[in-house]
Amino acid sequence: MTRPVVIEKIGSVLLLRMQAPPVNALGAQLRKDLQEAVAAAAADPAITSLVVTGQGKLFSAGADIAEFEAGMAKPELPEVLDTIERSRLPVVAAINGSALGGGLELALVCDYRFAARRAKFGLPEVSLGIIPGAGGTQRLPRLIDAEAAIAMTTSGKPVSASEAEAFGLVDRVFDSGDEAVAAAVAHAAALGTARRTARTAPPPALPDSTDFVAQQRLAITRQAKGRDAPLKALESVLNAYALPLDEGLAREAAIFAECNSSLQAKALQHVFFAERQVAQVRGMDAAVTAHTVAGVAVIGAGTMGSGIATACLQAGLKVTLIDVNPGSLAKGAQAIARIIEGNVAKGRIDAGAAAATLQRLELGDSLSAAASADLVIEAVVENMAVKQKVFAELDRIAKPGAILATNTSTLNVDLIANATARPHDVIGLHFFSPAHVMRLLEIVRGAKTSDQAVKTALDLSRRIGKVGVVVGVCYGFVGNRMLEPYARDAHRLLLEGASPSQLDTVLTRFGMAMGVLSMCDMAGNDVGASMRRENRAAIAHDPSYCRMGDVLDARGEFGQKAGLGFYAYAGRDKSERLDLVDLIAAEADQLGIVRREIGDEEIFERCLYSLVNEGCRILEEGIAQRPGDIDTIWCNGYGFPALLGGPMHWAEAHGLQHIHDRLAHWRAALGTYGEAWFSPAASLTELARNRGRLVDLFPSD
Ligand code: 3HC
Repeated sequence: MTRPVVIEKIGSVLLLRMQAPPVNALGAQLRKDLQEAVAAAAADPAITSLVVTGQGKLFSAGADIAEFEAGMAKPELPEVLDTIERSRLPVVAAINGSALGGGLELALVCDYRFAARRAKFGLPEVSLGIIPGAGGTQRLPRLIDAEAAIAMTTSGKPVSASEAEAFGLVDRVFDSGDEAVAAAVAHAAALGTARRTARTAPPPALPDSTDFVAQQRLAITRQAKGRDAPLKALESVLNAYALPLDEGLAREAAIFAECNSSLQAKALQHVFFAERQVAQVRGMDAAVTAHTVAGVAVIGAGTMGSGIATACLQAGLKVTLIDVNPGSLAKGAQAIARIIEGNVAKGRIDAGAAAATLQRLELGDSLSAAASADLVIEAVVENMAVKQKVFAELDRIAKPGAILATNTSTLNVDLIANATARPHDVIGLHFFSPAHVMRLLEIVRGAKTSDQAVKTALDLSRRIGKVGVVVGVCYGFVGNRMLEPYARDAHRLLLEGASPSQLDTVLTRFGMAMGVLSMCDMAGNDVGASMRRENRAAIAHDPSYCRMGDVLDARGEFGQKAGLGFYAYAGRDKSERLDLVDLIAAEADQLGIVRREIGDEEIFERCLYSLVNEGCRILEEGIAQRPGDIDTIWCNGYGFPALLGGPMHWAEAHGLQHIHDRLAHWRAALGTYGEAWFSPAASLTELARNRGRLVDLFPSD
């Protein structure tokens, strides 16, 4: 087995190459080998200096996050870095690729940093609910100015090699990793045994402005959106200006430990791994390879179609946008151009790149334009008959082996696939609006979908910068199916006496990016009503089912786009509609629902526990592979706060037994409505009875 640190002697220089695929995470064996190699070099008179570099794409992605739950094994990273820093020999970091977290902290204890141009430098710990714990908050301020050090530590955002050079974080930048290594070795040889600076040198003073710290604190609080770690990181960075290095390091370790034991850290680290685990799909033939996708045809140039086309274009794919309506096609093309050109205005790409992107776009006014596409994505109206017609036609037109995808958000992919003679090539690709922005992609595997089609979809999702989650066929798949009970109960609570703003406020106070009724207004009450029409058989027994959504649809009050919905809109501003109270009361009256004062706690329990309950059913039916897949979907597509880990992780932390008992309470308390919708799922009942964990019934592998 290859050791995680490969040692090479080049003259008097010892080159230490970290080799721990895929990201050179600083796991226990690597730390041990690194520490031993540095200590042995110091004891060897033939060695004058060292170079540390990484094998592969990265220098290092930092500490091994998987170790955080149980605690880091010995030697811990701070000890290893202390050995390097206190060594009598100089060390040059040859940063071949990105240096993140502990990877950057390793580079910080080196005397010099030579970097490849592609390398990025970052302290992303705050996005895992922690702060840098191996000296980052103490050593970075000793190297670069306070504002930059605070920004890097508290935002978690990486900077480029040229920015790092401008800050003074990097000494020299090279075109390639190999050049950086060669130059680092030459520099180390020239240094002899001369170290660069005393390790305890204090940082430059904080900016001479009385309210500098207050301003930083305010800005960070705003950006943190309820996360504790960014302010904790600030506190630790500020210690660097007030305390000697060793004391600052000790405080940093204490704050790190405090953060790492928090619920937020557990939730954010769960989200990190869950987002990566979704790519592991059970029952897939490991030998199957993805279909090569160079050209994509998108059918339907509406908001969804043009958003999907934009996402594919931006990833370098050739796209044919097809719409039989010339007006819609022109509008779709304009929308795409606006987004791409907007990227130039925002400085994200230059004009040349924008022109090249738009050149990859072709327009077509009939389905025959999809004939040469490797992947066809249908994004026409959400109606089974229409979609089946499109797929029957595509079956005749598309080239053999092309993947045929539907962007349906609720409909049965198997019925769509059966309209073709090649159901194995048919798959659901459920994008979220705006499709060029939202990270989530639900990949719907039909009964006959081939492994190759699934693999191709997973590859595509990665290529276009999305997190693709494979789900099974049912009404609404995972995301929209869970949205149904959550939104259904919000609608019902309106009839029982809550106001739209009360409802939405309870949910946003919990941490949802948006209240559910604001979300209905944004998506369009017409869209919701049309989805319900397709599902009428399942909800016909409940005349109150999303009643106000249907009423608003019938009145043409579709939401934001109509200026009226659950709220009144003036541009981006929304206000409460006083006239809605009478309208809701009249509907409640008709349905025989007695209106009463509704407490916030009731809204919280009924909406959120219904969401979790549906998640349990989805797991029982195997529609989602594991709880983490549901969490990934809701954090990336529905604005569930990542700092709570997603609905299933949150449910476990909140108490599965409590959720079960409260659902049972509402089942009994809400009469026939409660009986219809509030029965706890079988798995939830079992877990509540046995005081079990989700993983007991739904293992993650
Ligand atoms: N620890 C453990 N595993 C890690 C890891 C880490 N720091 N970083 C990545 N991985 C794993 C992933 O889980 C994934 O595993 P899998 O193949 O089994 O699913 C694999 O490496 C590849 O990761 P990605 O799929 O994310 O690969 P990409 O090429 O898309 O991205 C990356 C690479 C930019 C490095 C990205 O993985 C990343 O952002 N990693 C996290 C970086 C980070 O947060 N570092 C700080 C760690 S905390 C720390 O250092 C504390 C210190 O201060 C003490």
